[in-house]
Amino acid sequence: MKGFLITFEGIDFCGKSVQIEQLVNKLQAKQVKFSLLREPGGTIISEKIREALLTKEKEDMNPVTEYLLFSAARAQVTNKNILHALDKGEVVICDRYFDSSTAYQGYGRGIDLEIINKINFFATNGIKPDLTFLIDIDLKEMEKRKQLAAGELDRMEDQAADFFKKVRQGYLLIANNEPERFRVIDGKKSVDSISKEIWQEINNKIKL
Ligand code: TYD
Repeated sequence: MKGFLITFEGIDFCGKSVQIEQLVNKLQAKQVKFSLLREPGGTIISEKIREALLTKEKEDMNPVTEYLLFSAARAQVTNKNILHALDKGEVVICDRYFDSSTAYQGYGRGIDLEIINKINFFATNGIKPDLTFLIDIDLKEMEKRKQLAAGELDRMEDQAADFFKKVRQGYLLIANNEPERFRVIDGKKSVDSISKEIWQEINNKIKL
């Protein structure tokens, strides 16, 4: 692979989207060629799976169904978009990738981590991000931001605080196990200072 894969992770309301926007502006200003994708989503089929995953229905979703759907969406976006872009030598930015499944479905829902690791590998053809930003906020901060959020919460955002507590702890463990790949960012810092930190870290790793 000639390209460079950057992923963003964190619990809901951590501020990922704003940071991705900031990064995109900087890459555009520098005329760097990049692809931006989101998970679940990024292709016609993955966006359909996203709808099934995030819409609240009158029926509970089984955790295994949930995990396999996230993985199915990931296999599609990986094979349709990510692999090609990396092959062409592009910078690829992904708003969530397989670490979301390890944190949410593995640590959050309690699905066996060995199975998760195998299926994550299978769904991504073994691709690993070159750099992953974990934007970390605590549960109190998440609840505060949730209250301020406009509009209805989706099925995942509407999970109990206890679930997000496990997801956050899971993320911190995953990051701790792979310090080479992960950068843990304090999500309570200002948008501008986080954005500068992210830009610095990327520039430490690749020549843009
Ligand atoms: P989204 O609206 O994209 O949230 P965010 O802006 O926080 O990324 O919804 C994605 C939701 O799906 C989010 O709650 C995280 C969850 N998710 C998983 O549980 N497992 C996964 O593998 C992925 C990719 C996302």
